[in-house]
Amino acid sequence: MSFCSSPSCTTLFIILLLTITITSKASKNDTTHRRHRQLSIDYYAKTCPQVEKLIGSITSQQFKDAPFIAPATIRLFFHDCFVEGCDASILISSQPGSKELAERDALDNKDFPVEVFTSIDKVKALLESNCPGVVSCADILAISSRDYVNLAGGPYYEVKKGRWDGKKSKASQVYSNLPRANSTMDELIRLFNSKGLSIEDLVILSGAHTIGYAHCKYVTSRIYDYHGTKQPQSNIDPRLLKALRMYCPNYGGNEDIVVPFDVTTPYKFDHAYYANLEANLGVLETDQALFSDTRTKLHVQIMATDKEKFFRGFIKAMEKMGEIHVKRGRKHGEKRINCSLHV
Ligand code: HEM
Repeated sequence: MSFCSSPSCTTLFIILLLTITITSKASKNDTTHRRHRQLSIDYYAKTCPQVEKLIGSITSQQFKDAPFIAPATIRLFFHDCFVEGCDASILISSQPGSKELAERDALDNKDFPVEVFTSIDKVKALLESNCPGVVSCADILAISSRDYVNLAGGPYYEVKKGRWDGKKSKASQVYSNLPRANSTMDELIRLFNSKGLSIEDLVILSGAHTIGYAHCKYVTSRIYDYHGTKQPQSNIDPRLLKALRMYCPNYGGNEDIVVPFDVTTPYKFDHAYYANLEANLGVLETDQALFSDTRTKLHVQIMATDKEKFFRGFIKAMEKMGEIHVKRGRKHGEKRINCSLHV
C-alpha cells in the first residue's frame, strides 16, 4: 500500500495544516443501546482462555511492523458487519471457477491492502495451533479491531465473543449495504438505521476516520468539480483544499496515493476528527456533511469537546455494530480453519 510511505508526503501535508486552531462547544446527548444475549465476554474461557493474549501477540507486532494494518482492519470489520452481518464473510476468497465473486472482491472492497488479510491469517494459524477449531474468524476480526483501536491510542474495551463464521459471501451483496464517500445524509442515516444503528452511532463510528487514509479517487470530484460546477465544494478549508490538490491531481496521477483522514493528528486515535469537521477540515464529503447537517451537527460538537465521551460512545457503538446479524451454531454458521476458505 503506498500511502505517502516516503514520510515526506504526509509530513508536508501535516505541516501545511499544523497552524490550524480549532474550537468546539459542549452539549448533551443520549444513546440508544441494543444488547445481544448470544455473545459473551467469557465465551472462550474454557475452550481457549488465552485467546486475547494470542491475538494480541500478533496485533502488537503488526502495529510495529506495518501500522497501516490498524485502520484497514477496523474498516474491514465495519465492511464485514454491514454486509451479511459480522461473520467474517469478507475474508472468504472467491473460488476459482465459481459463478459469483466473493465479498472481498467486490469493487467497494478492492482498496484493502492484502496485508490486512494475511495478518488475520497469521492470527488464525496461531490460534489453530493452540486451540484448534475453536475461535471463529468473525471473533478474530472483532478482537483485532479492538486491539488496533487501543494500540493507536484509543480506548481498550472487552469484546463480547461467540460469533460463528458465515457460509455465504457474495460480491453482489456489497454495494447496497455500504455507504459511499458521496452518499447523502438521508442515505447514510437510512443505511445505519437499517443495521440497527442510530444517528448518534453514525457520527460516533465515523470517528474511526481519526486514523487511516483515503485514496484520491474519493476526493477528486469534491476538490475539482463538485456536482459538475467545475468548482470545489464550498465547505472545504482553503488550506485543506490546497493540500489535497497537491496530492491528488485532477487527471492522471498515481492511483495509489492516499491522504490522511485526520489532518491534525493522523496517527492517533483521538477525537480530533470532530474538531477538524468544525474547522471544515473533513476529507470526505460524508465526513464534512456530519457537521453541516442539523441532525448530526450537535453530536459532532459534543464529541469534539469531550474525548472521554467519544471513547465511551465508540465502545458502545462498536459493540452494537459487532452484534449485527451475528450467527450461532452449525445450522447458520461454521468455524473456519482457514479464514479465507469456506469449509
Ligand atoms: C459513514 C459512512 C462512511 C463512509 C462513506 C466511509 C467511507 C470510507 C472511504 C471512502 C474510505 C477510504 C478507503 C480507501 O481509500 O482505501 C474509508 C476508510 C476508512 N474507514 Fe470509512 N466510511 C464510513 C464509515 C466508517 C465506519 C463506520 C468505520 C468503522 C467503524 C470506518 C472506518 C474506516 C477506517 C478506519 C478507514 C481507513 C482505512 C485505511 O486507512 O486503510 N468508516 N472510509
